[in-house]
Amino acid sequence: PIYEPGLDSLMVDHRERLSYTLSLDQMLGRSDVVFIAVDTPPTYSGDADLSRVMTVLDELEATGADSRHILVMKSTVPVGTGERVRAELEARGLGNVGYASNPEFLKEGAAIEDFLDPDRVVIGDFAPEHGDAVEALYAPLEARIVRTTVPSAEMVKYASNAFLATKISFINEIANVCEEVGADVSVVAEGMGLDQRIGPAFLRAGVGFGGSCFPKDVTALKQLAGNSGYHFQLLTSVIEVNELQKRRVVNKLKKHLDTLEGRRVALLGLAFKPGTDDMREASSLVLAARLLAEGTRVVAFDPVVTNAGDLVHGIESADSVEAAVAGADAAVLVTEWKSIVDSQWGSLVDTMATPVLIDGRNALDPDEMAAHGYTYEGVGRTSP
Ligand code: UGA
Repeated sequence: PIYEPGLDSLMVDHRERLSYTLSLDQMLGRSDVVFIAVDTPPTYSGDADLSRVMTVLDELEATGADSRHILVMKSTVPVGTGERVRAELEARGLGNVGYASNPEFLKEGAAIEDFLDPDRVVIGDFAPEHGDAVEALYAPLEARIVRTTVPSAEMVKYASNAFLATKISFINEIANVCEEVGADVSVVAEGMGLDQRIGPAFLRAGVGFGGSCFPKDVTALKQLAGNSGYHFQLLTSVIEVNELQKRRVVNKLKKHLDTLEGRRVALLGLAFKPGTDDMREASSLVLAARLLAEGTRVVAFDPVVTNAGDLVHGIESADSVEAAVAGADAAVLVTEWKSIVDSQWGSLVDTMATPVLIDGRNALDPDEMAAHGYTYEGVGRTSP
């Protein structure tokens, strides 16, 4: 099971229209449009692993899909995959099966509203009737539809994620410079974002981006370019900046605590962002591993992730913010869950051994925290 706000009630409300099966045969008998939504994790080389996609084709061959069926690729796949799938279908005698690319743009934690109110729906096809069938499915959403070729649709997905990741690494570097020159990145981002050409979204500085998509897709696009002989220099920097950003908290802690060995540090929030229990590429994992390597005792709390110790050996789990923070030499806000941000900071401060508070998401008010007695440090803001 996954944690996604609103999904459980939606599934209950529509249970009569949902059916589940492990039999592809049975499913093909009842479907025209078949969405492929398997994962495409990175391989050791940074390329996307397409083995699950290929397994679907093997199974379609075994069950005998036909001209009634249109395969729709929802999985994030490298540019060129559609053409490869087309060729594989032909080779398997399934040349009459339709194909369309329909990349996914929803965000975890906001998946339902992103689906129901999308900025755009992108559909790439080899033959217009296949794209028409997919477009008809989306008609009730009255969304902006972009019709194009399969390779362009595939590229829209990678380019969008890579650009959003670039925005984050950019603002994180601006934040790091702000710390040096005494500027406040939150105000800088607000001032920048009002320029319509820049826009306010994805300009929140923090402890780096994580999740199952940005790290994987940025690397896959860089790899895809490299495979065709093009060195995508900008993306190399986007990735490197992100890796360094995750580690900057360690130096901030060292500055306040002198040594980290034997200290107790509370990590508040573990998931790669609020609203999900997804720990893939979460910044908290890198941070925890670095602290443990320094000989620090790491006590973590997250409202939905409770198995941190299984992911990084040595992390202790607390069942509340209070329990994580009690006796700690420092607390780090890693994921801006509302329940964590709304904690009783005024009373927590007295339970800490030393009241050092590193706000990795700029989610707290610096002056208010200073008034409570914390030694507060955010990202790209001057400390009060
Ligand atoms: C991302 C994209 O936003 C979706 O459009 C896309 O469909 C999805 O990947 C995917 O390819 O499947 P997601 O990974 O769920 O969605 O999460 P985001 O909300 O984009 O956040 C990604 C990471 O960036 C998080 O760690 C978040 O904390 C970080 N972030 C985001 C920032 O550090 N600053 C920001 O301003 C925004």
